[in-house]
Amino acid sequence: MQLSIIVPTYNEAPNVAELVRRVADAVRGIETEIIFVDDSVDATPAAIADVAASAPLPVRMIHRDTPTGGLGGAVVEGMKIADSDVCLVMDGDLQHPPEDIPALFGRFGVGDADVVVASRYMVSGSARGLADRTRVWVSKLSTLLTRAMFPIRLRGVTDPMTGFFVVDRTRIDLEGLHPRGFKILLEMLARKSVRVVEVPFHFADRFAGESKASVRQGVNFLVQLTGLRFGKMSLFALIGALGAVVNLVIMWALIQLGMNYIPAAIIGAEVTIVGNFLLQERFVFQDMRSDAAGVWSRFAKSFAFNNIEALVRIPVIALLVNTWHISSVIAAGLTLIVAFVVRFMFHSLVVYAP
Ligand code: GDD
Ligand code: MN
Repeated sequence: MQLSIIVPTYNEAPNVAELVRRVADAVRGIETEIIFVDDSVDATPAAIADVAASAPLPVRMIHRDTPTGGLGGAVVEGMKIADSDVCLVMDGDLQHPPEDIPALFGRFGVGDADVVVASRYMVSGSARGLADRTRVWVSKLSTLLTRAMFPIRLRGVTDPMTGFFVVDRTRIDLEGLHPRGFKILLEMLARKSVRVVEVPFHFADRFAGESKASVRQGVNFLVQLTGLRFGKMSLFALIGALGAVVNLVIMWALIQLGMNYIPAAIIGAEVTIVGNFLLQERFVFQDMRSDAAGVWSRFAKSFAFNNIEALVRIPVIALLVNTWHISSVIAAGLTLIVAFVVRFMFHSLVVYAP
C-alpha cells in the first residue's frame, strides 16, 4: 500500500459515495486505501458499507460507539490502523477536492518533507468555501494567533488549521498527541519539530449536509492552543503582572518624595517598559533572538509599541465608558486584557520575527 487516506466522518451519509468515486478516479496509479473513522448517528455507516462493497479500491471503516477526541481523535485512530505509513487526511464533505491528492502525494514523494500541508492561505490557494464572512474572519484571526504562539514550529506554515494534509506516520508521536476536536494538524506540528512544505488548494463548497463547526469547537481550539503553548505565553503574562506591580511601587515612591502624580506615573510606566523588555529578552524569547536584527532594533520596536499601546488605551477606555456605560475600572481591565494579547502577538510576530 502506497497511500492510506483517512476520512473522519460525522453524519456525512449523502457525501461518502461521491467522495469514494472521486477519490478512486483521482488516485489511479497510486496504490491506495480509504479508511473512514466514523462517529455518526445517522445512516453514514450503512452508506459506507454500501460503497465499500463495489469500490475499485479497499475501503475500510471504524465506527466508534464511544468517540473520544472528536475529529482529531478519529484521525489518530485511523492513522494507527493504516496499512501505509504515508497517511493523507481529508474531510468527508468534498470541501477538500480529491483531484488535489496526486499533487499532495507527489510533493511528499520528493522526500524533503514529513508533512505536506494543503493550504488555503498561500498564494494560489483560497478559502472560498468558508460559509460566511464571520467564519472567514474567525479563521484568519485564529490562524494569526496560532502562528504568533508557535513562531518557530509554524515558520512558513500559512495554514496550520487545515484538515487536508499528508503525513509520514513514523515522524509523528501518535501516542503523545492529545487531540481535542478539529485542529489535529496543529497538534502534530506543535508537539514535535517536523519538516513541512505546503501546496495551495481551493477550499470548495460542501457537497451536501452541514458543517459541524460550532462555538464549542472554538472553545476546544482555545483550550488546545493554551495547552500546547502554556510555556511562553504564561511567562510573558507573569512578567507583565510583575511589571504592573513594579510600576505602581515606583509611582508610589516618587509621590512620597513629593513628585506630582502625572510625571510619577510616566516614569513608573517607562521604567517598567524597559524592565519588561529586558526580562522578555532573557526569559521568554531567548531562543528567538536573531542576531541580524540586533538588540537595539528589537528594543526600539518593543518600546514604541508599548508607548503607543498605553496612549491608545486612554481614548479606548473613554469610548467604552461613554458608549457602553460600563465602569471605568472594568473598561480599563478589558483594554488591559486585549492589550496583553495584542502585545504578545506583536512581540512574537514582529519584534522577534523569525
Ligand atoms: N469522526 C468524526 N468525529 N468526524 C467528525 C467529527 C467528529 O466528532 N466532527 C466533524 N467530523 C468530520 C466531518 O464529518 C467532516 O468530514 C470533517 O470532519 C470536517 O467537518 P466539517 O463539519 O465539514 O468542518 P468544517 O468544514 O467546518 O471545517 C473544516 O475546515 C476547517 C478549517 O476552516 C475542517 O477541515 C477542519 O478540520 C478545519 O480546521
Ligand atoms: Mn466541511
